[in-house]
Amino acid sequence: MKRDNFGSRMGTLAAAAGSAIGLGNIWKFPYITGENGGAAFILVYLGCIILVGLPVMLAEFSLGRKTQKNAVGAFKELAPKKPWYLAGMLSVSTAFIILSFYAMIAGWVFSYIVRAATGQLNSVAPEKLNDYFGSVVSNGALPVFFTFLVIAVTALIVIFGVKNGIEKCSKILMPVLLMILVALMIRSVTLDGASKGLEFLFKPDFSHLTKKGILEALGHSFYSLSLGMGIIMTYGSYVNKEENLLSLAVQVTVADTLIALMAGVVIFPAVFAYGLKPDQGAGLIFVTLPAVFKSMPFGVFFETLFFLLIGIAAITSTISLMEVVVACVTEQFKINRKKATLFVALALFALSIPSTLSFGPWANVKVFGKTFFDLFDFLTSNIFLPVGGILVTVFAAWVWGVKNVVKEVTSDGLHEFKAKGLFAIGVKFVAPIGIGVIFINSIGVMKKLQAMGLSSTGAFGLILGVFVLISFIIWRIKCRTYRIEE
Ligand code: PHE
Repeated sequence: MKRDNFGSRMGTLAAAAGSAIGLGNIWKFPYITGENGGAAFILVYLGCIILVGLPVMLAEFSLGRKTQKNAVGAFKELAPKKPWYLAGMLSVSTAFIILSFYAMIAGWVFSYIVRAATGQLNSVAPEKLNDYFGSVVSNGALPVFFTFLVIAVTALIVIFGVKNGIEKCSKILMPVLLMILVALMIRSVTLDGASKGLEFLFKPDFSHLTKKGILEALGHSFYSLSLGMGIIMTYGSYVNKEENLLSLAVQVTVADTLIALMAGVVIFPAVFAYGLKPDQGAGLIFVTLPAVFKSMPFGVFFETLFFLLIGIAAITSTISLMEVVVACVTEQFKINRKKATLFVALALFALSIPSTLSFGPWANVKVFGKTFFDLFDFLTSNIFLPVGGILVTVFAAWVWGVKNVVKEVTSDGLHEFKAKGLFAIGVKFVAPIGIGVIFINSIGVMKKLQAMGLSSTGAFGLILGVFVLISFIIWRIKCRTYRIEE
C-alpha cells in the first residue's frame, strides 16, 4: 500500500502546529501562568520547552521519518523481535483514551459556540453563569451528542487522508485561528484598564514561583507540544525526506508558545478590565469570560469568535490524536483507511460515553474512588503519558542512538545542526530525568516522602538519586543487548 504524505512545507507545519496548539494553549497556559507569577513562570516554561520539549520533539520526528511507519511499526522496524513496540502500543492507547475525553471538552466548546451565536449565553445573568455551565455539562444527552459531533467531524477529516484531509484542513484552519486571535487581541488590549492584565501576565514576580509551579511548567511543556503519544512520530512519518526537521521542530515550538502567549493577551486584559478574578481554573473560559463578554460592546460577536477559536484549536488537535490510532490500525492490521477510521470512530463513541456521563447521571459511579473521567484523566496524564515519553526518549537516545537521530534530523548531512552537542545532552539526560520527575511527582511519591518527614528538597534529591541509579542499572543490563548496530 502506498503511503500518503504531506504535500508541502506549509502544510506540514500547519498540521504539526495544529496538533500542538489546542485547549492547553488557550485555556490552561494563561491560567497557570497567572497563578505562578506571570513572566517568571513563562521564563521557566521557555527553559523547559528548549531543554526537554524540543529534544523530544526532534527524537519523535526522526523516529517517524526514518521508518515511515506508525508509532507501533516504527519501533518494530528499528528493534525487530524486541519488546520496544509495546512502548508504541502504549502511546497509541494513550492517544485513544485522551481523545475520548478531549472530544468531550471540545464538545462543551462546540455547544458554547451555538449558545454564544444564538445570544442564549449572553442572556444568562453573570452570577448564574456557574450554574449554567454546570447544567450544560451535566445534562446527559446533549453533551453526549456534542462529543459524538466532535468525533464525527474529526473522523470526516481523517478519512480523507493525510494530504487531502489533515493537511488541507490545517492549512485553512490555522490561518483562520491566527486571524481570530489577532482580532480578539486588539479588542482586549484596547479596553480601558487592560494594562493591569498585561502587567499580571508579563511582569516577573519570582515570589509566586514555587517548586510546584516549575513541575507544572515542565509537565505542560510536554503536553502542549503533543509529545509522548506517538503524534509527532506519526506526523514525522509523513514528512518529506529532504525537509529540515530541526527548523520544522523549532517552528512548531515557537508557534505553540506564541499562540499560548497571545491567548494570555486576549484573556487577562479583558478579565482585569471588567474587574473579574483570573484564577477560576476550568471556569475561566466557560464562566469568567462569558461574564466579560456580557459587559463588552458587541459582546455576542466577540464571544462567538472566541469559542470558535477554541473549537478550531481543539479540532486540529483531535485530528492528530485520531490519526495516530488510524495510522496504526491501517498499517498493523492492513485494512484501508476508510474502514479503519469508521472502526476507530465507533470505538471512540463508546469509550467517550462513560466520561461524558460522569459529569451528570453517572457522577456517583466510581471506580477506585474516581469517576470515569477522573480515572481516564489520571491514568493517561499522570501515568501513560510520562511513561510513554520516557520510553520514546530513551529508545531514541540510548537504543537507536543520538548519532542516528542527528543523521535523520539533518537528512544525512544535507542540513546543518550546530547545537547537536547540546541536543545530545538534552535527549540523553535532561529529558528522561525531567519527565521522570514529572512522573514521580504525579503519582504522589513526593507527597508520601514528605509525609514521612523528609524536606521537599530531600525528597526531591532522594527520588532523583534512585531514578539515576535505576536508569544506570537498566542501561547496563538491557540497552547493551538492545543496541542497534550502526
Ligand atoms: N497539545 C494539545 C494542547 O495543547 C493537546 C494535545 C495533546 C493534543 C496531545 C494532541 C495530543 O491542547
